[in-house]
Amino acid sequence: LEKGRLEQRLIEYCEDSYVPFHMPGHKRQLEFSPLSEIARYDITEIDTFDNYHAPTDIIKQEFDRAAEFYESDKSIYLVNGSSCGLISAICGAFNRGDEVLMARNCHKSVYNGIYLNGLKPHYIYPRFISKWMIYSQIDAKQIEYALDKNPNIKGVILTSPTYEGIVSNIKEIADLLHKRGCILIVDEAHGAHFGYEGFPSSSIKNGADIVIQSLHKTLPSLTQTAIIHLKSKLVDYDRVLRYVSMYQSTSPSYLLMASISSCIETMRVKGEALMMDYSKRLDVVRKRLGVLKHLTLYSPKMEDGFDYDKAKLVIGTFNAGISGNKLHDILLYDYKIQVEMASLNYVILMTSLADTWQMYEYLIDALIKIDNTLNFKENLFANVEDFEANSVLVPAVAMNMATTKVKLNAANGKLSSEYVYVYPPGIPILVPGEVVKEEAIEAIKRYRMAGLEVIGLDDKEDDLYMEVLLDG
Ligand SMILES: Cc1ncc(COP(=O)(O)O)c(C=O)c1O
Repeated sequence: LEKGRLEQRLIEYCEDSYVPFHMPGHKRQLEFSPLSEIARYDITEIDTFDNYHAPTDIIKQEFDRAAEFYESDKSIYLVNGSSCGLISAICGAFNRGDEVLMARNCHKSVYNGIYLNGLKPHYIYPRFISKWMIYSQIDAKQIEYALDKNPNIKGVILTSPTYEGIVSNIKEIADLLHKRGCILIVDEAHGAHFGYEGFPSSSIKNGADIVIQSLHKTLPSLTQTAIIHLKSKLVDYDRVLRYVSMYQSTSPSYLLMASISSCIETMRVKGEALMMDYSKRLDVVRKRLGVLKHLTLYSPKMEDGFDYDKAKLVIGTFNAGISGNKLHDILLYDYKIQVEMASLNYVILMTSLADTWQMYEYLIDALIKIDNTLNFKENLFANVEDFEANSVLVPAVAMNMATTKVKLNAANGKLSSEYVYVYPPGIPILVPGEVVKEEAIEAIKRYRMAGLEVIGLDDKEDDLYMEVLLDG
């Protein structure tokens, strides 16, 4: 693509024949995008259109209808993604300085919420499935152990499903937490399509206090559209809603809100039929991918997860002599298939109910052809060992202290002032206020050698540099 104005580039790209195995879930199918001539419908809070921040009329009706559909106490549309929903939940559910337990594989926005509310995080490390280098489910036992060890913990924040589709047993976790008066917030950003036959059930039905879903990721809805559900005896709803209001524009887009409304209505009226059809198609796709000899379609073992979202096609490259990044390049440059994300050992292809069967045929054919060109090789990359963080300062303190830049090797033993992570998926190797251990430095080098993008470092000509605390 030529470099040019964004509009031009968008038009050129979207008119070309790239096959979208990534977000958003509407997959640019006009059938699922009723507002295709968007500018004609772009209004603001004019007469008869209510006020998002103090809804009494049409917007209140939308929220009430959503709550009824999702069987929550309150469901509020979000026009700034799950990110603002997660931050609002974390700020609204906990008091400044509270101790919370969070999964280490939480999204960056959870870390942002922890920072903004000055919370003290404790971490749970889900077991690492080392061949794949993906995190498995979070066990209720792990949570119980952490709560026994740190009795001041006020609540838990975890991601279910994970980016790769692994679902934890939310019911068991919610029951355990509620017995101790602790709040459960579930980042269900990738699970907006849950609750239908053939797919996992939603956390809101399984007892979580606050659940945040990105409609745009897996359902036919525009980018940035999301929803926060509240159903709790422990959470002060008005407090959460105050933050929902603060972290969003005072001019929320009516296009985005209309897209949410249309998406929910589609699911209410046709959801069961659409999802049934989608589920069957996915079963066929997964079965047909069973012929791959070197590439591997991820299908979880019992111990990996309580449940699994088959909508994610995670294709492993560890027995194929190439990296996930290489598979990404082959799919994109030879077949014009855009994957959602590429990692060291796999790529993620995101499907949705808006996919056409033609897209699936094309993908299956491409993967089989690629597979036939590959040779079996022993696991190409050394497995990465997971290592526990050593937090000395909470992020809200560390991020406001004086820093200095040192060469990566010289950072050993110092306190990080940055989030260092591989993107995607954005799970931190280091959080501000944590000791930079040698294992972390080695992991960073290994990821870079494999061609992954490590964010939070300064790549200068002579060496890699890292920002650490001056007095750390
Ligand atoms: C697990 C998870 N949570 C939250 C988010 C943030 O969602 P959004 O893009 O809707 O703000 C993402 C986005 O990539 C995610 O993967």
